Amino acid sequence: MARRCFLVVAAVVSAVSALWPLPTDLSTGSTALTLASDFDIDVSAISNPPQDLLDAISRTKGYLQTDQLEALVVGRGASYTESLQNASSLSSLVLSFDSGFSGEPTSIAEEAVDDIDSRVEGYNLIVPKDGSSASIKANSTLGLFRGLSTFSQLWYDLNNTTYTVEAPITITDSPVYPYRGFMLDTARNYFPVSDILRTLDAMSWVKMTTFHWHMVDSQSFPLEVPEFPELSANGAYGPSLVYSTDDVQNIISYAAARGIDVLPEIDTPGHTAIIAEAYPEHVACPGATPWATYANEPPAGQLRLANANTTNFTASLVSSVSSRFPGRYFSTGGDELNTECYAIDGSTQADLNATGKTLEQALDTFTQAVHSVLEDSGKTPVVWEEMVLNFNLTLSNNTIVMVWISSADAAAVADKGFRLVQAPSDYFYLDCGAGGWVGASPAGNSWCDPFKTWQYAYSFDPVANMTETQAKLVIGGEHLLWTEQSHASNLDSIVWPRAAASAEVFWSGPGGNTSEALPRLHDIAFRMTQRGVGAIALQPLWCALRPGVCDVTA
Ligand SMILES: *[C@@H]1O[C@H](CO)[C@@H](O)[C@H](O)[C@H]1NC(C)=O
Ligand SMILES: *[C@@H]1O[C@H](CO)[C@@H](O)[C@H](O)[C@H]1NC(C)=O
Ligand SMILES: *[C@@H]1O[C@H](CO)[C@@H](O)[C@H](O)[C@H]1NC(C)=O
Ligand SMILES: *[C@@H]1O[C@H](CO)[C@@H](O)[C@H](O)[C@H]1NC(C)=O
Ligand SMILES: *[C@@H]1O[C@H](CO)[C@@H](O)[C@H](O)[C@H]1NC(C)=O
Ligand SMILES: *[C@@H]1O[C@H](CO)[C@@H](O)[C@H](O)[C@H]1NC(C)=O
Ligand SMILES: *[C@@H]1O[C@H](CO)[C@@H](O)[C@H](O)[C@H]1NC(C)=O
Ligand SMILES: *[C@@H]1O[C@H](CO)[C@@H](O)[C@H](O)[C@H]1NC(C)=O
Ligand SMILES: *[C@@H]1O[C@H](CO)[C@@H](O)[C@H](O)[C@H]1NC(C)=O
Ligand SMILES: *[C@@H]1O[C@H](CO)[C@@H](O)[C@H](O)[C@H]1NC(C)=O
Ligand SMILES: *[C@@H]1O[C@H](CO)[C@@H](O)[C@H](O)[C@H]1NC(C)=O
Repeated sequence: MARRCFLVVAAVVSAVSALWPLPTDLSTGSTALTLASDFDIDVSAISNPPQDLLDAISRTKGYLQTDQLEALVVGRGASYTESLQNASSLSSLVLSFDSGFSGEPTSIAEEAVDDIDSRVEGYNLIVPKDGSSASIKANSTLGLFRGLSTFSQLWYDLNNTTYTVEAPITITDSPVYPYRGFMLDTARNYFPVSDILRTLDAMSWVKMTTFHWHMVDSQSFPLEVPEFPELSANGAYGPSLVYSTDDVQNIISYAAARGIDVLPEIDTPGHTAIIAEAYPEHVACPGATPWATYANEPPAGQLRLANANTTNFTASLVSSVSSRFPGRYFSTGGDELNTECYAIDGSTQADLNATGKTLEQALDTFTQAVHSVLEDSGKTPVVWEEMVLNFNLTLSNNTIVMVWISSADAAAVADKGFRLVQAPSDYFYLDCGAGGWVGASPAGNSWCDPFKTWQYAYSFDPVANMTETQAKLVIGGEHLLWTEQSHASNLDSIVWPRAAASAEVFWSGPGGNTSEALPRLHDIAFRMTQRGVGAIALQPLWCALRPGVCDVTA
């Protein structure tokens, strides 16, 4: 994969070029330019512009008016007052397709859920210094959308003047990796739809492509599945704590209009204890204690993978749920299978005996049955790493594997020939380091201590310790939030701006310098705050206004 390379990063990174993620090629000048009060975004060069592009343009114009972000410099830009009085002003940004585009434009939403290898996200952006029209050119609607996200990050506010002091600006940009994601667990604790939508907005500002939605788990089943209504009726935390079919459609279309594919996950056969509330016949060892013997966290209970009816039930469930998602990818999970649970389950032992299968063989039959309903409907299965590293299963070579236990496992997954997503707990788990949550353990720690700082995530090399052949199978990566200790009230503060670190690693490529990234990360964090996302402070504001001055070496 290409390492990051860029023409110019202004030495005065403090005032300007505070873009996140950093574009592939960026050159800037030092001329002040203001945004005209009648500034507009012109799509007249595009015949039949898709409605979601027009909506994105409206949102962009909204941000240009409401961001009101003051430059992160001492004096907050007051020293630019005189040059702004003399500055040219920009009245128009023209969007158009580049020479590689032909035919009718497709919507952002359609392009967002396209095959991961065929998405086109590149764009060119030019902002002249003399007030003549700015332009974004791309070979796709998605590319135009990415360009708009960048454009909206170029501007600061001083006494109601929207300006840059870095014109002219020339950007040529495209991502290194196509999969740039964030995973949210909505089962340990429930998140209202509005919180998910806000998260999707923030994801789109840093150009993420995938919302990995870990919808259900052993603790709760908040997903309404019309064919299996008892699952949420009996398994949600309450009647109002359910994602209805309409909620799900709303989340999918909101995401897609922002260039984000939803990767749904129904974790199987482990992490399914809650299904016993509706279908006790399908669950082994429900509520078995001590839970620590039978599961990685309470409550114990896993699908009876050796049973033909349970296999049929699971395949039908996955078929029902996946049919409601337009994307091509669906995760059937597969992490943390507990063998002790099956050992004490008479029904599973009888099924194994009757079929003459080992547990691994039964898991293979189960997985093939569940994956075949996905493949029959043109979908690609996604699994956690154990499904290829701990068991000898027959999986389609198309399967995508999520590396989570450790980044050190990625090479072994690649050696099996599977494409993989880097989701390693040792870099990208946002919940680590918050102390223990299990009761009666006052000195407990999180299992994945320590806290994963943005700097550490930012240092991640997606192809570290891999051969070229192995490295080719890495399609990107994601930050993840398991929600034992979070819900709506601390969602933003746990996720932002930390998760932006991986968004840049996988867009711009690894090898970025944290000292140079920090002022830009401050900037996007404050911009998020202006837009209603509760990103936390990374440093005292005193430091944010004085890049480098708080470095340990300063
Ligand atoms: C602004 O324009 C005035 C008059 O043309 C000129 O005297 C002054 O030096 C200019 N200031 C800046 C900062 O360019
Ligand atoms: C569009 O495609 C053409 C032809 O492949 C290419 O030369 C150009 O660089 C592309 N433009 C962008 C913005 O990626
Ligand atoms: C802010 O703008 C107003 C009107 O444009 C002007 O009267 C005022 O002096 C400006 N304030 C500062 C601090 O520049
Ligand atoms: C900016 O404009 C708004 C409304 O037009 C006004 O309420 C606000 O006081 C202005 N801010 C400054 C700094 O002049
Ligand atoms: C499947 O369910 C049917 C109907 O309840 C039952 O007769 C049959 O024995 C079950 N099969 C297995 C393998 O459990
Ligand atoms: C489950 O079993 C029913 C009845 O035998 C059958 O019609 C259905 O196709 C099966 N579903 C799957 C997903 O195998
Ligand atoms: C397995 O099945 C055979 C006969 O079908 C029976 O004799 C044996 O006890 C069973 N073993 C277990 C562990 O259930
Ligand atoms: C894995 O399973 C396949 C067939 O299912 C078998 O041929 C192969 O020997 C197994 N490999 C291992 C390492 O057990
Ligand atoms: C899977 O195997 C098929 C047939 O051998 C091949 O064409 C395809 O490229 C492989 N896919 C991946 C992701 O390796
Ligand atoms: C690569 O290997 C080195 C040496 O074993 C190890 O310290 C480092 O953590 C590995 N990097 C990743 C990303 O796994
Ligand atoms: C990172 O950037 C800072 C500031 O530009 C520079 O002083 C430092 O040498 C860079 N570090 C590395 C490892 O390149």
